[in-house]
Amino acid sequence: MKVEAIKSIDEAKDIKAFVFLLYEGDTSPLAKLGSSTARRLREALKSLSFKGKEGEIVRLPALSRKAEVVYAVGLGKKEKANLDSFRRASAGAVKSLKKDKIPQAVLVSPKRNRSFSQAITEGLILGNYSFDKYKTSKEEGKFEVERVLILGADEEGVKVGTILAEAQNYARSLVNEPGNVINPITLAEEAQKLAKEFCLECKVYDEKQIREMGMEALWSVGKGSSTPPRFIHLTYKPSGTPKAKIAIVGKGLTFDSGGLNIKPGDYMRTMKMDKSGACAVLGIMRALAQLKPNVEVHGIIGAAENMPSGSAYRPDDIIRAKNGKYIEIDNTDAEGRVTLADALSYASELKPERIIDMATLTGACMVALGEYTAGLFTNDPSFGEEIKKVAKDTGERVWELPLYDERLRKKIKKGPADVVNTGGRYGGAITAAMFLEEFVGEGIKWVHLDIAGPAWSKEDYGYYTQGGTGFGVRTCCEYIMRYLDGKE
Ligand code: BES
Ligand code: MN
Ligand code: ZN
Repeated sequence: MKVEAIKSIDEAKDIKAFVFLLYEGDTSPLAKLGSSTARRLREALKSLSFKGKEGEIVRLPALSRKAEVVYAVGLGKKEKANLDSFRRASAGAVKSLKKDKIPQAVLVSPKRNRSFSQAITEGLILGNYSFDKYKTSKEEGKFEVERVLILGADEEGVKVGTILAEAQNYARSLVNEPGNVINPITLAEEAQKLAKEFCLECKVYDEKQIREMGMEALWSVGKGSSTPPRFIHLTYKPSGTPKAKIAIVGKGLTFDSGGLNIKPGDYMRTMKMDKSGACAVLGIMRALAQLKPNVEVHGIIGAAENMPSGSAYRPDDIIRAKNGKYIEIDNTDAEGRVTLADALSYASELKPERIIDMATLTGACMVALGEYTAGLFTNDPSFGEEIKKVAKDTGERVWELPLYDERLRKKIKKGPADVVNTGGRYGGAITAAMFLEEFVGEGIKWVHLDIAGPAWSKEDYGYYTQGGTGFGVRTCCEYIMRYLDGKE
């Protein structure tokens, strides 16, 4: 779908469908269609008892030749509506256009400065997403909206919004691909394809090289599968001297069966999404290659499939990670942190000032925060605050959980090795984060996002459709643009 900015309604003479985003109790934007049409539209809205509440959407009858189809979409109260309200309303609009098979529309919004134009664009493109490549019947679900023109929008906002939303949709599609299609090898091929298309550097290490480089942790998790692990390192380098250097690390379990500590069937279902962090990394690198910030960015993925077999790693195994620390395996289903031990060690060796990792790490995080909010952990309070601020605008909900509980930390610091890969029943998201912290290099500012909940949506909501969400793509990119490149 193409989103464009237009300066006047006359630029869209051939388009007869209109979408109005309206605050509660404020129908003034309708005046754009001329006062007599606006009057009749207001009457129609009244008779449909449209208030403009968030989530409200009505289709009005044909009232003029200029506007054959008009949708009114509620934004909620003006004082309460934020960027994400506009994103969700725009997604709602595009979902209606899709349902009614209307290929083109003009959108009118009460706010259209740069950030709102960006949010509206994101909402439209995210809302138009569907994953239907495996549906062979032509009818249902295949209709896509071709073009939406936003009246008076900011061109730069539309451009950035398009790049970010397309990158997020790309991540969603990768997450939605099942384990028989995306495995560590094909994920690495996808990274190489992406690098080629968007002029990024890409290095892929195979299972032999993984072992030789000292990444026994990743290697061990991957060895139970007949598809061996891969280590993926993508690099974006700006043309000038970079203002900052950051590594983005993603958990890349292309399928998590639990391994020898096998998951019961209900819990194994949807575990193709255990690569969501990795897919977000690919989406981020794709967006950055187009946004071109003056920042050096490393995208790092340890890709493996966690399977039970005669060659699988076991409980009791003691494994040496890349930074030299020994890990005792208590439970093979706590595999993500084991792969991340090597990925974080590798990232640390690149000496970035900052690392963000994203991982569908623990069910415990979902118990703590619900499935719509990511757990945020950090060793640097101001870095954490910056991410929280960005996340408020992107609508990707995060909530900080503590890392400083030294009694809890003891639970992963026992047994025969330096660390053990689980910390018991309570505070499971925290002990997992503490485990990761063991592999972050000295002096590096680090944020860990446990995205086990928000990486996957069980239902359609706002700009999400059931399935992978691409969570984290927009927050990381915005953070890099806003705080490291300082463009805004
Ligand atoms: N990939 C899972 C975590 C997960 C659960 C993500 C549900 C998304 C939805 C992770 O590898 C896992 O299995 N974690 C275990 C850890 C436990 C064995 C300490 C968990 O959360 O139960
Ligand atoms: Mn697991
Ligand atoms: Zn997992």
